[in-house]
Amino acid sequence: MYKSKILGTGSYLPERVVTNADLEKLMETSDEWIQQRTGIRERRFVDEGVGASDLGVKASLRALEQARLSPRDIDFIVFATLSPDYNFPGCGCLLQEKLGMQTVGALDVRNQCCGFVYGLSVADQYVKTGMYRHILVVGAEVHSTGIELNTHGRDVAVIFGDGGGAVVVGWSGNGDGQILSTHLHSEGKYAKKLWLEAPASIYHPRLTEQMLREGKHYPSMDGRYVFRHAVDRFQEVINEALLANNLRIEDVTLLILHQANLRISEAVSQSLGIPAEKVFSNIQKYGNTTAASIPIALDEALKEGKLKPGDIVVLAAFGSGFTWASAVIRW
Ligand code: COA
Repeated sequence: MYKSKILGTGSYLPERVVTNADLEKLMETSDEWIQQRTGIRERRFVDEGVGASDLGVKASLRALEQARLSPRDIDFIVFATLSPDYNFPGCGCLLQEKLGMQTVGALDVRNQCCGFVYGLSVADQYVKTGMYRHILVVGAEVHSTGIELNTHGRDVAVIFGDGGGAVVVGWSGNGDGQILSTHLHSEGKYAKKLWLEAPASIYHPRLTEQMLREGKHYPSMDGRYVFRHAVDRFQEVINEALLANNLRIEDVTLLILHQANLRISEAVSQSLGIPAEKVFSNIQKYGNTTAASIPIALDEALKEGKLKPGDIVVLAAFGSGFTWASAVIRW
C-alpha cells in the first residue's frame, strides 16, 4: 500500500462581489438579517457564460502550479459539483479538454456540500492502491444562475455563492504528510429537505411551463431542519474520525468545516470544545460555495500560514442528501 497526501492546493473566486446591500435591491432582506443568521457579508457571482468547469480549471491550474506538476502529469480527475455546466456530460470531461490533459478518466461526484470530501476519499483509495499516482480533485459551483434572486427565494438565495477549489492528491514519501482517514455517510430519507426538484427524469417531460411557474427549478430548503441535523452530524463525524485515529480534539491544529453557515460552525465548535481560532471561516466573504467551500478554505488557510508539516487538519462536511463526511490529514 502507498500513502497519499495533498501535493498542492488552488482556488479561484470570480471577481464580481455581490454584497448583502446589493441583494437588498433585489429582494426584501437586510444586511443585518443575513449577517445575524448566516455570518455572510458578501459572495461572488460569475459573469454570464462562465460555468463550474471554468472555475474548476482556474483553481486546478493553481493547485498544479503549487504541486509543481503539469496537466499531463495527472492520471485521473474527480470533479465534485451540484451545478455542472450541462446535465451531461459531467464537468470532469470538460475540465480534461480545457486543461489539454491526456485522455485520463474523469469521474463526476454528485454529493453536494460533501462532494469534495467524497472525492478526496475516492482519490485517497486510488492513490493508496497504486492505481494512480496523481489525481486532481476539484470542487466548483455556479449557484448564481440557479437561485431565485427575489423575495420568494430569499431564504436560499442569500446563502449561496460561486467559486472553485482544487487539490492534487499523490504519493507521500516516508515521513511526509498523509491523508489518515475518510468517513462518509448518507441518509436519503431527508432527500427533500434540501433539493432541486426539476428538471427530473421521473417527469415526462422533465420540465414544464407549470413547473417553471411554480419555481421547481430552484433549490428548496427546510432551513431549520438542515441547521439542526448539520450541527449534530458534523459533531458525530468529527468524533468518529478522531476516534478512528486515536486523536483528541486538542490534537487538531485546524478544523475546516464546509462553509454552510457561520452559526452552524460556531455551534459545532462550541459543542466540540475547540477554540474559535482553530476553526477556519471564510463564509463571510464567499457565502456557501457547496463542493468548493472546503478546497477554497484549505487553500486560503495554507496561504495564511495556518498549517505546517506534522499538523493535524480535520475536514468535515454536511449537506443535501442528507450526506455528511470527514477527512483527517497529517500535514
Ligand atoms: N431576509 C429576510 N428575512 C428572511 C429571509 C431573508 N433572506 N429569509 C427568510 N426570512 C424570513 C422568513 O420569511 C421568516 O419570516 P416570518 O417569520 O414572517 O415567516 C423569518 O425570516 C424567519 O424564517 P426562518 O426560515 O424561520 O429563519 P431561520 O432563523 O431559520 O433562518 C436560515 C433561516 C436559512 C438562515 C437558517 O434556517 C439556516 O441557516 N439554516 C441552515 C441553512 C444551511 O446552512 N444550508 C446549507 C446547508 S449545506
